[in-house]
Formats: sequence, C-alpha cells, structure tokens
Amino acid sequence: MSDSFSFLFLTSFIFGHSSTFVKAIHSGRVVHDKFLEWSETYGSVYRINILHHVALFVTCPDTTKEILMSPKYPKDDLVYKHMFNLFGQRLFGNGLVTARDHDLWYKQRRIMDPAFSSLYLQGLTGTFNERAEKLMDKLGEMADTHTAANMHHLLNCVTLDVITKVAFGVDLDLLNHSDTTFPKAIEMCLKGLVYYVRDMTFQLYPKNRKFINEVREAVKLLRDTGRKWINERKMAVQNGEDVPKDILTQILKTAGSEENIGSDDEELMLDNFVTFFIAGQETTANQLAFAVMELGRLPEILEKVKQEVDDIIGMKQEISFDDLGKMTYLTQVLKETLRLYPTAPATSRYIPKDITINGIHIPAGVMCVFNTYVCGRMNKFFEDPLKFDPERFHPDAAKPYYCYYPFALGPRSCLGQNFAQIEAKVVMAKLLQRFDFSLVPGQSFDILDTGTLRPKSGVMCNIRHRGQNTTG
Ligand code: HEM
Repeated sequence: MSDSFSFLFLTSFIFGHSSTFVKAIHSGRVVHDKFLEWSETYGSVYRINILHHVALFVTCPDTTKEILMSPKYPKDDLVYKHMFNLFGQRLFGNGLVTARDHDLWYKQRRIMDPAFSSLYLQGLTGTFNERAEKLMDKLGEMADTHTAANMHHLLNCVTLDVITKVAFGVDLDLLNHSDTTFPKAIEMCLKGLVYYVRDMTFQLYPKNRKFINEVREAVKLLRDTGRKWINERKMAVQNGEDVPKDILTQILKTAGSEENIGSDDEELMLDNFVTFFIAGQETTANQLAFAVMELGRLPEILEKVKQEVDDIIGMKQEISFDDLGKMTYLTQVLKETLRLYPTAPATSRYIPKDITINGIHIPAGVMCVFNTYVCGRMNKFFEDPLKFDPERFHPDAAKPYYCYYPFALGPRSCLGQNFAQIEAKVVMAKLLQRFDFSLVPGQSFDILDTGTLRPKSGVMCNIRHRGQNTTG
C-alpha cells in the first residue's frame, strides 16, 4: 500500500483497536508482529484508536528524526501517566523514564548524568568483571554436573546483581540466592506491567484480582526496600562515611538539601529507585538471552565471535575497558540482536500542534508511536529482515537512517545505553571465552507463523568447558 494515511476498521466502538491486539497477545503471537503487519499493509503512518485516544504509528524516518530528536514533543500522557501507578500503587511516578514535564525531567537527568559518564563507567569495569565471574562459576558447576542451564534465568540474576551492586552498593549474590523475595517482586512487577500497559480491560475481570493483589504487594515491597536502602545511605552520609558516587548518591541529590526534603522528594527518590531497577536490568538480561539463542542456532557466527574474543583477551580473566572497545564483531552481534529483539521496543510522543507527516495534515492532540521492532523487521529498511546478520552493523556499512533505535533517540534516549553495553560485552566475552554452549533441542525457541523466533522456557542450553569434548 502507498504511503497514505490509513485508518484501520474499528474492531470495537468503545475499546477501539485495543481488542485486536489483546487478542493477538492471548493467541500467543508477538503483539509487535501485528503492528508490523499493519505497517506493511497501511504504510508509513496509520491511525488506531485505543479507547477514545488516537495513536498514529509512524515508521517514516524523517518524521522519526524530527519528533524524537526534538524537545518540543513531550512523552505522551496515555502511556507514561498510566505508568505512574501499577494497578493503583505508585510505581515509576515522576521518575526519569515517565516524567513528562520537561523541567522536572531535565533537572533529574542533569543530576543523574555523572553516574553514567564515560570516566565513571570505565571505573566500573572491575565490578562488571567481578559480577560476571560469579555467573562463570555457576556455569562451571553446571558444566561439571551436566545440568542444562536456564540462560534467561541466570542472565537475569547477573544483571540484577550488577544493578544492585553498581547502582545501590548492595550485595545480593542472586546466583546463589535467587529464591529471595526481592527478585521475585521485580519479576511480579514486570509481569504485571505487561498486562497493565497492553490490556486496559485487565482490571475489570474478577478472575484477575488475585494476580493484581500480588502485583500490588510486589510494588510495595520494592518501594519499601528502596526506602530502607535510601535511609541507610543517608545515615552513612550523615556519619561521614565514605560512600560511592553511584546512582544512589545521585538519587539522593534529586531531593535537594536535607532540611528541605518533603514527602514529594521522598516519593521522587523512590520513583527513581524503581525506575533504575526496572529500566536497568531486564532489558540487558533479555538482550543477552536473545544473543545466546541466536548464537546457539548459528555456528558460523558463533565461531567468528569466539575467535575475536580469543584474539583479544585470550586466557585473561580481567577484561579491561580497552579490550571491550576492540571487540567490534561482538558489538555487531549485540546490535543485530537488538534489531530483531529490541528489549524496549517502542516509545511515544504527544503532538501539541498541527504537523504534516508525509504530506498528511495531522491535527494537534494525538500521540505518535515509534516502534524499532517494526522498523527493524521491514524489508524496505533491512534486506532479508528475519536473517540474523551482524554484518549489517559492520563499521564500514551504511548506518541505518532513523529506522533502528533500540535505545530511543534524542533527549529522552536511554541514559544507561553505555552502561548496558559494557555489561553485556563483559558477560558475553567471558561466556564465549570459557564455555561451549548448545541449545537444548526442542526447549529453546518456537518459530511462529510470522517467522518470528520466540524463546521457550528460558533459552535452555547445554554447557561445556571450552576444549572439553561433547561426550565428556
Ligand atoms: C539493553 C539494555 C537497554 C535497552 C534496550 C534500553 C532501552 C531504553 C529505551 C528504548 C528507553 C526510552 C524509553 C521510553 O521512551 O519510554 C530507555 C530509557 C531509559 N533507560 Fe534504558 N535501556 C537499556 C538499559 C538501561 C540501563 C542498564 C539503565 C540504567 C542503569 C537504563 C536506564 C534508562 C533510563 C534512566 C531511561 C530514561 C531516560 C530519560 O528519559 O532521560 N537503561 N532505555
């Protein structure tokens, strides 16, 4: 279909098109495949209705550039105000991801920036190494006992361990104590968020009440933990102890001086506590799990990336910041992983004034949705899009033009992008350096009718020490 503005036939007068994609979720499809199908059918901009709200799905690169790169278009209320709470319990509040007011967001972003500066992150390489080493110990035990590894679970533990240590100075050692309430609460919040954001009717059904109460309890536990850790850090500062210049230290600064801290400031600190846990953990764990899944399927790419790791770090245990910069093929693999499996696939903006998209007049007051999953799988942007091919991101290849943005773009792009990719590289490099892995047949992924690979039961892998033969 040509690049004209299209309005899909309404599936429900009250719920608009929501019921169509809720149906897609319940039928086991990836909901973004539905958006992809609509983009292929209806062109670079199409309209859907969510309840009485109008959402424009845009894949046009020039509009993506214009809107995402500009501070003139705030995050929209429908999605981000909704995430202030989770089933009535304050979750992200006005934290960095969900703040819509420019000044409130900008103040926080400026304060948080130093904890993500290149220099500060370089200094964290040792901690990333140390935490990743715990995963290697665990995988070593599994290799020795021929136990299949649930890679998704293990990678989730390691990224949660990293964020708690690096951001908040707390040692959870989750690879050995994963059965504790805190990681379970995070898992519950994430599960709850999926239903809460995608299905506006979820809360209306009495059968979901038990689940909703469990999610509410999980949110409460998360914020109570935040309150405790923030108070402990405040005490440490008051007692003149030497505290790290980490994310928690910066979060304390968002509340201003000690005498003026009010309950709004307290809540804002907790909003950011929750924000960093949720934004900074599962996204990276999922990226790593998808990378393992693809490498497990594609032996040539696996060999090539292993060779690079061997050439650059050999048998060295501590990976330096400089080593990371040299692993260009591993970078390509990680970028390609996020093309096919962006772990935060969409962002949206409010359009406060009339604009023109692709020659079409768009009246003020609508929301524009930008979805990197959809763009990443469109033939017009990436040839043979379902093929996992890291060469697309070769340093000499043409850069994708506003059709690949797994960390979003512009002023509201991901603050933790470099943090995440340093972490991902350290974990992957150590994994490739030490172990051979293969997917457990029939237990790693399904192929959906859209051609999408969907991981199954946590990307199960058989693990062997490198050099150990397959039967050993
Ligand atoms: C592979 C890993 C990651 C991916 C794919 C990712 C992706 C994204 C995306 C797409 C956004 C924009 C969200 C939106 O528009 O609603 C975002 C925002 C953000 N991310 Fe990440 N993220 C990752 C890891 C991290 C990590 C490790 C941290 C922190 C340690 C982090 C912290 C943030 C913050 C604070 C924001 C809000 C930025 C702002 O609005 O100023 N992210 N991320």
